[in-house]
Amino acid sequence: MCGIVGYIGLRKAYPILIEGLKRLEYRGYDSAGIALSSENAFEVYKEAGKVSDLEKIIPDKEHLQTIGIAHTRWATHGEPTSQNAHPHYSSSKDIVVVHNGIIENFMPLKRRLIKEGYTFQSDTDTEVIVNLIEKESKKGRVSFEEAVNKALQQLHGAYALAVLSKKEPEKLIVARKGSPLAIGLGKEYSEFFIASDAIPIVEYTQDLIYLNDNEVAVLERNKKVVVKDIYGKSKSYKVKHIELDNNMVTKGEYEHFMLKEIFEQPDTLSNTIFSHLDEKENIIYFEGLGKLKKQLSEAKRILIIACGTSWHSGLIGEYLIEELARVPVEVEYASEFRYRNPIVRKDDIVFAISQSGETADTLAAMRYSKEQGATTFAICNVYGSSMAREADFVAYTYAGVEIGVASTKAFTAQIAVLSLLAIAMGQENKVLDMKKATFLMKELRKIPKLVAKTLEKDAEIERLAKKFLDVTSFLYLGRGINFPVALEGALKLKEISYIHAEGYPAAEMKHGPIAMIDEKLPTLIVGTNEMYYEKIVSNAQEVKARKGTVISVVNEGDKQLSDISDYVMTIPKVTDILQPIVVAVPLHLFSYYVAVMKGCNVDQPRNLAKSVTVE
Ligand code: F6R
Repeated sequence: MCGIVGYIGLRKAYPILIEGLKRLEYRGYDSAGIALSSENAFEVYKEAGKVSDLEKIIPDKEHLQTIGIAHTRWATHGEPTSQNAHPHYSSSKDIVVVHNGIIENFMPLKRRLIKEGYTFQSDTDTEVIVNLIEKESKKGRVSFEEAVNKALQQLHGAYALAVLSKKEPEKLIVARKGSPLAIGLGKEYSEFFIASDAIPIVEYTQDLIYLNDNEVAVLERNKKVVVKDIYGKSKSYKVKHIELDNNMVTKGEYEHFMLKEIFEQPDTLSNTIFSHLDEKENIIYFEGLGKLKKQLSEAKRILIIACGTSWHSGLIGEYLIEELARVPVEVEYASEFRYRNPIVRKDDIVFAISQSGETADTLAAMRYSKEQGATTFAICNVYGSSMAREADFVAYTYAGVEIGVASTKAFTAQIAVLSLLAIAMGQENKVLDMKKATFLMKELRKIPKLVAKTLEKDAEIERLAKKFLDVTSFLYLGRGINFPVALEGALKLKEISYIHAEGYPAAEMKHGPIAMIDEKLPTLIVGTNEMYYEKIVSNAQEVKARKGTVISVVNEGDKQLSDISDYVMTIPKVTDILQPIVVAVPLHLFSYYVAVMKGCNVDQPRNLAKSVTVE
């Protein structure tokens, strides 16, 4: 949700900011802007649309400024117009700000500021911040830093922001509450890079400081970073060295990040699985598992909270944990959970699943659970993210940077982690015998290769996708552990191709959705589970009897379901409970090709943003 980037140093700021914005575009892409600062003057450019549209309006000259801030937006308050694009000026134009987050009390603050003579050019909540800073800086001998602090003390809501002021033009001030912010350190503090995440920074430095909530950092060339809380109290900070290869954040030979990320899965799954499972010995490791084991085995209940695709992996986690560890699991949309006065007990273990580790609803639900005394366990992909830092325990998914807005490789990595956790818990609870556990671990080790084999069917899936470009609606059916995969397949098709798609438990079809079936509504059926095979075949027959088109995902060598189906996508044979990872691959590829052939922007689908840091 919005990306911010900034630079202060000795190099020209403009190319760093523009390239940074391109790398952050996955966080929001409806408008963008840039402010360059030098010698008491700001140059500000803003435009609706993508960063490429912004570039078109910026004069083609050498921009010599060595300080600047920039923003790519996902609109919350006010339409995506150039007026609402960031950076925003204060009334006197002495201060500029870029902001990611939402200021909840902006209306009363704005009314007060207007009464006091401040003027507003946009509909955004952000303009309140910059005018408040201006107002505070006018009160006697107040420094830029003090004015920022005083303004921040009045805000309710979330922010990651970067501010520049003409009065102290050699300073870049950044602050964070609720929205992520990283500071990259140049050699001997000669320069600083700031951004919503490490992706735009890694090209220049791998030494980063992640600000905590309510912290403000003052960045000045050749001076150590000064971090304080918003009341001016000094805070210590750690510099983290992160290993992030520049290749990980570029598309390489692929046309889209989404395709690259789908094809990375043999590696990402291998990384995830073998970071938590010994390659030969039957040993599962999770940091802190030793301590957590007792709580896990005594847990009366596990609550899983997540949003979107991560919620789907949470549902798969429910099947896995209940089946293998026999602990009751409840899976909740974090956004519902946090607002419905849920019952959370001290002996509950709450799994928060999130690729970004920053999703506002999941973070709030996790914090709430912690306040109620539950043990929190985050399953995250982004190192050092808010959830990873705040949870009692964290398991990383090691899927690498996911830039495509539609989650793919993070989803399968989450399922891999949940599978391992379920096996470990089953062993600890003594409900999973060594023979079964050994079998499952052996099967899991094979998954990266099976995914690679499934990816070989890419061209077939592309040909199949071509037949469904004019369809307006789709039904996805699955049973058992593959039901959440059907939900995921439908979500992916919706979000990137804008074709309506509905996921349903196959057995529930006759309680409603069957009424929709006719020759115009194709049904995609996941028919790989051995346990429900006969029943799934019957569901396919029910669709065919109503003139519906059936596309099935079947195991290699399948006969019965394949004969009934109009089209099939095959996967190699995998034991039922570990199938979701492999089944997800053709479903993601199918959505990808439908969307690409329909001319949709798969990496940046309309209205979406990757990391939903607002409610
Ligand atoms: C869908 C998708 C979203 C995210 C959701 C949660 O493809 O990517 O539904 O899964 O916004 O995001 P995280 O996992 O970062 O909490």
